[in-house]
This record gives sequence, structure tokens and C-alpha cells, in this order.
Amino acid sequence: MTTDLAGLETEFLGRIAAAPDTAALEAVRLDALGKSGVISGLLKSLGGMTPDERKVQGPALNGLRDRVATALADRKAALESAELDAKLAAGRLDLSLPAPPRRRGAVHPTMQVMDEMIAIFAEMGFALAEGPDIEDDFHNFTALNFPPKHPAREMHDTFFLRPGPDGSAKLLRTHTSPVQVRTMQKTNTPPGASWIAAGQNPPIRIISPGRTYRMDSDATHTPMFHQIEGLVIDRNIHMGHLKWTLDQFIARFFELESVVTRFRPHHFPFTEPSAEMDVQCDTSGGEVKIGQGAEWSEIVGCGMVHPNVLRNCGIDPDQWQGFAFGFGVDRLGRLKYGMPDLRDMFASDNRWLAHYGFSAFAAPNPASGLS
Ligand code: DAH
Repeated sequence: MTTDLAGLETEFLGRIAAAPDTAALEAVRLDALGKSGVISGLLKSLGGMTPDERKVQGPALNGLRDRVATALADRKAALESAELDAKLAAGRLDLSLPAPPRRRGAVHPTMQVMDEMIAIFAEMGFALAEGPDIEDDFHNFTALNFPPKHPAREMHDTFFLRPGPDGSAKLLRTHTSPVQVRTMQKTNTPPGASWIAAGQNPPIRIISPGRTYRMDSDATHTPMFHQIEGLVIDRNIHMGHLKWTLDQFIARFFELESVVTRFRPHHFPFTEPSAEMDVQCDTSGGEVKIGQGAEWSEIVGCGMVHPNVLRNCGIDPDQWQGFAFGFGVDRLGRLKYGMPDLRDMFASDNRWLAHYGFSAFAAPNPASGLS
């Protein structure tokens, strides 16, 4: 039997060189060197040859097998590397692409301002006291010396809840002042509401931050807003203590060396005398600058606690005096950080929050005194 080994070799080497991928190459390998491959068949036929034939055909066939096997291995390596290159090219990372945006939350300006205020008052020795948002008439009005026909008690100012069986209606507190009453009264903590300010004996020095509600909505009023109440009860307390406390606070809050403030006479049923404190400011450049200029911005209501309020809470006004104040937190935030419309603060517009919000991980505000 004679086979054209040279022709066979040319054919296989040609097919190996032309194999487009590793799968096609494997088909060639099976045709040549597989169990029933052509070259394998020829190698098997060596057994049936005479020794003389084998001497010639053996080396020729082994040489053919080795050259085809080498060609297969070389081509396989080349194809594999080309396939890997193609894969890498297809899946390439473009590091110049901008990263997909990450959604980040922000601290609401009101909460930021509240934290700053609490930190400053805490350093001045004020403790925190809290009260419920849903109040009764006694704590919100009566104990605070509101006369029975006072306009604040009317429907157009106050959100009343549906009256209970006894005819009395609870209400959404119109200010944080009821927490004064809850703090001064000895027994006021409803069962199960341990977070509500516990009654304490004088001396008292507390602030009370929280939400408050009134039927009001324009650029400077929202139906829900935030206040921080302050109350100091001690012996021989006078307006000088009040003025010093507020001046210190305002300078710290607005990050100023000192501020010029003035008391303007005012009326609150629960203080006597009552005042509003204004701070010097300049609005001529279109934005409010605190601590300079010839204008005044009202910043806090305050006064000496009315003797009737002390009596209503079981404290002897001949023994103890005190002062109180109530800040509008959102208002103060507006003055410090310059939001044009108060209503935007509670519109839950993410673009507004992203612009005016604060990073939760920012360095502590220098005004906060925290480090
Ligand atoms: N409760 C007052 C209000 O909402 C603010 C206020 C004024 C609070 C004088 C006080 C104060 O404690 O002494 O308008």
C-alpha cells in the first residue's frame, strides 16, 4: 500500500493554517490524529507491514504525525491568543467615562440649624426638654396666661382636633411654650410618655426644640414650622441675664465676635415685661448680612416669665423669677443661609435639598462648639 504522504501532509498543513478558530482546528485534529483519523489509521497499518516496509514507512509516518501535531499545537496557541485578544478588546473598560451618579442624602437645613442651636445652648448649660405636638388647651394657652378670648385661641390661628366626649378639643401646639409649663409642673408626665419633660424644681435651665403649627402660609410662614423655647428659673434673675444670654447665643450662631442687638417692647401673655429682640443687619446688597448695617431684623420673642405663669405651675413668684424666649428655627436658618422662601423648606424638592442641604459627614460647624 502506498500513500501520497507528501500530499497528505500538504493537505493537513493547509487545513491547519486555514482553520478560522479553535473549533475548526479541533475538527482537523480529529481528521488527522483522532482515533479514526487518517494518520492514526496509517500508523495502525504499520503492524501489518513487513519489517523492510516498516523501516521505510515507520520513520516517514512518525515524522508526518510529529509535524502535523506540531503544526496543530502552534496554530492552537495562535488561535487561542487571538481569541483572548478579541475578548479583551470587546469587554474593554473605558476609564475615561464619567462614573454613574450616586444618590446622596443631605441634612435638612432646619435640622442642621437646630443642631447648631442646641450645641450652643448645651455649652451654656441648658438641658433639653421635649413636649408633645398634640397639646391640650391648658398647656398651650391657659397655664400660659392667655385670656379666654385671646385671638390665638381662635380657629383661624390654631389647628384644633375633633372634640372628645367631654367637649374639649386637643390642638396642634401653636408654640413650644407649653414645654415651659410641663417642665415647671411637678406632676405632668402622662404614663408611657417618658420622653416628655419631667417636672423639676427650680433652678431650671432648659431649651425645648420642636415642631409647631399655625394656620398660616406665605413666603415667611408655613403651617408647620420649628421653634426652640428657652426657660431659666432661678433667684434674682433679671432682664440683664436674658440680654446677655441672647447676645452670646446670637454672636456664636452667626459666627461673629460680637453683635449689636436691641430690645423692642412687645406683648406676650406669658411674659412681663415682654420684648422682641432685633439684630443689626444690612439688606442693601440683596442678601441679609447680620452684624453690620443700619437695619434691624427681628430674631426672637422673649421676656420675664409672668408671675401668673409661675403660679399656674406651682412656683412662688416671690421666691423665683425667670426669663423665657422663643426662636423660630426655620427663620433663623433663612437669615444665616439665605433661603428666599420659607415654604420651599418643606416642599420636599430634592433639587432644593441638594442645594441647601448639609453633608452629614461635614466638619462640625464652628458655631456649634463641637470638635
Ligand atoms: N411662644 C411665642 C410665639 O410662638 C414665642 C415666645 C415669646 C416664647 C416670648 C417665649 C417668650 O418663651 O418668652 O410667638
